Amino acid sequence: MQRILEEAKKISEEITGWRRHLHEIPELGLETPKTAAYIVQELKKMGAEDIREHIGGWGVSALVKGEKPGKTLGIRADCDALPIKEETGLPFASKNGLMHACGHDAHAAMALSAAKLLLASKAELAGTVKFIFQPAEENVQGAKAMIDDGVMENPHVDALIGLHTGCLWKEIGPGEIGVRFGSMMAAVDRFVVTFKGKGGHGATPHLAVDPVTMTATAVLELQTILSRELSPLDSAVLTIGRIEGGRAFNIIAENCVIEGTVRTLNPTTRAFVEERIRTVASRVAEGMRGDAEVAYEAGPPALINNADFTRKFQAFAAGLAGAEKVKEIGEPTMGGEDVAYFLEMVPGTFFVHGGCNPEKGQVYPHHNPKFDLDEETFPLGAALFAGFALNWQN
Ligand code: NI
Repeated sequence: MQRILEEAKKISEEITGWRRHLHEIPELGLETPKTAAYIVQELKKMGAEDIREHIGGWGVSALVKGEKPGKTLGIRADCDALPIKEETGLPFASKNGLMHACGHDAHAAMALSAAKLLLASKAELAGTVKFIFQPAEENVQGAKAMIDDGVMENPHVDALIGLHTGCLWKEIGPGEIGVRFGSMMAAVDRFVVTFKGKGGHGATPHLAVDPVTMTATAVLELQTILSRELSPLDSAVLTIGRIEGGRAFNIIAENCVIEGTVRTLNPTTRAFVEERIRTVASRVAEGMRGDAEVAYEAGPPALINNADFTRKFQAFAAGLAGAEKVKEIGEPTMGGEDVAYFLEMVPGTFFVHGGCNPEKGQVYPHHNPKFDLDEETFPLGAALFAGFALNWQN
């Protein structure tokens, strides 16, 4: 397996070139036409098969078909950027007011490199590898859009891997690999509760029904779902980020609205918290002579890595990079990742690629205008994708 890493190092200039070009043309959300066109152009150039465009908008897929029979592995790379004005001063910095400040440019470049490496190894490759270049990870719409448009079929994807580069997990240094068994990132849901009262004069509350007091009570009661009803060893977040009601100091409002997010690490807790938000909000409102309307919008599910698959990946990564470079991630985060939609459908693993090197001044966090990556770590990411594709069915 060392060979694939050597091969990846040989094309490091090309990897860097892909990354830099993508870095210069950042695009937002589902609208990634230039990014898609560039990826398609490069896939065509290297001879990838069955290149498909416009999957769920600007998503792209391509195949590398091995000469031996076998299953299909999906390799997913997200490709979208952020509405941040870049301040890195790099020669290939973006000038369009948007920025690849989360490393998705590198994800796409590493996936392109893996395709190139696998095209050169088709004789040894069992089965097929489907590359999935996904827009709109940041607003968590891209994976679902591509799945709804059939990206997991024709050929059917049997398992999937993806990575995140950078310094999201501090314990994963440059050139290191982070793996996690089970829940790794949270389900990201949004809810809106409208508390309905009856408007009136501030001087005569008894003739009105006050939705502001209902809301105030509910804001505190809702937190007890986590503190009093969940096991202290389970994790969940309930944050109310917006509260709005009333127009003047002496008027009792008709309605008061709260909007918030719920983060959970498993489907059972997720369903429980949703059900309890509905009940608590309604009962609090009813108890105060009003009404509550609850809208609950499920975002991506919790990102849960398949244990057997992850063990396989961990062993492979240790063989490739050295066991000391592969670390188990201690704690999940309550942030979300829409790769979870794929991993909800098929077994797989999402791993961390340490891509920031503090010795090179890469000390800025993700989503910072000075965020940057160590390009010397990219061949490792490419080799992990390609090498695992060659290995996983053994
Ligand atoms: Ni990201």
